[in-house]
Amino acid sequence: MRIFSGIQPTGQKHLGNYVGAIRQYVEGQDRADAIYCIVDLHAITVPYEPGELRANVYDTTAVLLAAGLDPERCTLFRQGDLKEHTELCWLLSAVTAHGDLNRMHQFKEKSAGQRELVSAGLFLYPVLQAADVLAYRADEVPVGEDQRQHIELMRDIAQRFNERFGETLVVPRHRIPDVGGRIMDLQSPDTKMSTTLGSEQGTLYIRDPDKAMATKIMRAVTDSGSDVVRAPDKPGISNLIEVMSVFRGVGPEDVEQEFADAQYGDFKKAVADTVVEALAPIRDRYQELQVDRAGLEDVLRAGAERARSIASGTLADVRERMGVGPPD
Ligand code: AMP
Ligand code: TRP
Repeated sequence: MRIFSGIQPTGQKHLGNYVGAIRQYVEGQDRADAIYCIVDLHAITVPYEPGELRANVYDTTAVLLAAGLDPERCTLFRQGDLKEHTELCWLLSAVTAHGDLNRMHQFKEKSAGQRELVSAGLFLYPVLQAADVLAYRADEVPVGEDQRQHIELMRDIAQRFNERFGETLVVPRHRIPDVGGRIMDLQSPDTKMSTTLGSEQGTLYIRDPDKAMATKIMRAVTDSGSDVVRAPDKPGISNLIEVMSVFRGVGPEDVEQEFADAQYGDFKKAVADTVVEALAPIRDRYQELQVDRAGLEDVLRAGAERARSIASGTLADVRERMGVGPPD
């Protein structure tokens, strides 16, 4: 069994990333051959600062290690260290429908936000993401809910490739958590928590000091009523119940039961304490790791070597099947 996931080196990682994705990465290390990639090549599809990109990669690497990824038990690498991902992206574009790419929610959202240039790279983004996973013949892809459509697409691409050129690629499945797959902005709980789209006060960053974490939760927008229960018209409280459920390692219904007699204020206080207790040690480790760039680079370099040894085999098979380049 092989697990693969990718994470962008942009901005600051937040509670949504941790709950939806990172904690699944950590757990995956003990179940399977786990491979995680920091996708610098995806980050260049929207305006960015070249001078900041490498720093952002180190930053995200430090967050992942602090959260519990162990280079002895998983492969952690930077996408741009390998040529295989971009090459496979191009080869797969031959079996990708233009119309499917046009339907991608993330493309529509991100292109609507661009003022100057909607890059062709932004359009091809899901094909590169498919290449990331298919190059490793991964079985499972842990992600948050917002990536569901991208995983569906990579399944279609793999299937179409196999039908056209013969059984070559593994058709991967997503692993989206039932609870916590979509953590909402604390200030506007009808939009997802996000570095780019959300509000500063509504986004709880892993690097926030204890006090900021607690304040953001205490000031989270809650709904009318006073019962701590999940309901469609209570997105704010529902969101906090999911967060609590994940960190406590119990079902959301257990959280509802425990706080059946509580007021919103008491409940928020308990959520704040729980989140700070869980994230503060990760933040502290992150701050220690983040300054050791040489150490982080060593981890990424070793990861890239291992990644290449797998991806190059897939690429040789794909080229051979497609009749590209010299014969084997
Ligand atoms: P990104 O930082 O956009 O590369 O996202 C990294 C991972 O975090 C992906 O698997 C996303 O699906 C997941 N993710 C991002 N935002 C959220 C959120 N608000 N709730 C749950 N998961 C999320
Ligand atoms: N598009 C993903 C995101 O925005 C990041 C990503 C890139 C990814 N390649 C991947 C996720 C491969 C899973 C598998 O979060």
